[in-house]
Amino acid sequence: MIRKAEAKDHAQLLALYKAVARIPDGIARTPDEVTDDYISGFMRKAAADGIEFVYEEEGTIGGEIHASRVGVAALSHLLTDLTIAVAPACQGKGVGRALFGALLAEVSERMPHITRVELFARESNVKARALYASLGFVEEGRLRGRVRNARGEIEDDALMGWIRPGP
Ligand SMILES: CC(C)(COP(=O)(O)OP(=O)(O)OC[C@H]1O[C@@H](n2cnc3c(N)ncnc32)[C@H](O)[C@@H]1OP(=O)(O)O)[C@@H](O)C(=O)NCCC(=O)NCCS
Repeated sequence: MIRKAEAKDHAQLLALYKAVARIPDGIARTPDEVTDDYISGFMRKAAADGIEFVYEEEGTIGGEIHASRVGVAALSHLLTDLTIAVAPACQGKGVGRALFGALLAEVSERMPHITRVELFARESNVKARALYASLGFVEEGRLRGRVRNARGEIEDDALMGWIRPGP
């Protein structure tokens, strides 16, 4: 089941993000960098001025997606800081697609002020970039040499944007 995230999810999200961070070259954090403050920070921002969904099965959270606004009037139509994490055991089963579906449906139906959603995905994360492209995100540019991978090499980050379809 996909549902909105709640404050009580904090501990499970900490465990989820640590598990996902152990897989090289997915999210741009090591397990040590997945801290209570990191989880609290994105949960607080999403609750205050953004969006956050979790995938839960029998009380266990197996995936999460969040994004938020930046609090600048000129960017008030933009959802950014988007991150998605699906537990290793749940990957490849449609959870990521379903979480994105929930996020884009919420934006489309209940957040008319949002006309753009953006994210970054490292060049080598081919699976993730293909998923985002299939959902309507367009690769808009490359940030050269922006992110270091698990082998210590520096690679490009792709900036991908989704624009609300016109009427
Ligand atoms: C990237 C991620 C969010 C995708 O979520 P997921 O639940 O594994 O993906 P889904 O099962 O919904 O599959 C989505 C698509 O990805 C592709 N895919 C899934 N598993 C795949 C695999 N092992 N190899 C290649 N492609 C795969 C499929 O083409 C699928 O498309 P389909 O729906 O047409 O079949 C998830 O794998 C993840 O959390 N990875 C680690 C962290 C990460 O990379 N985060 C994103 C940082 S930008």
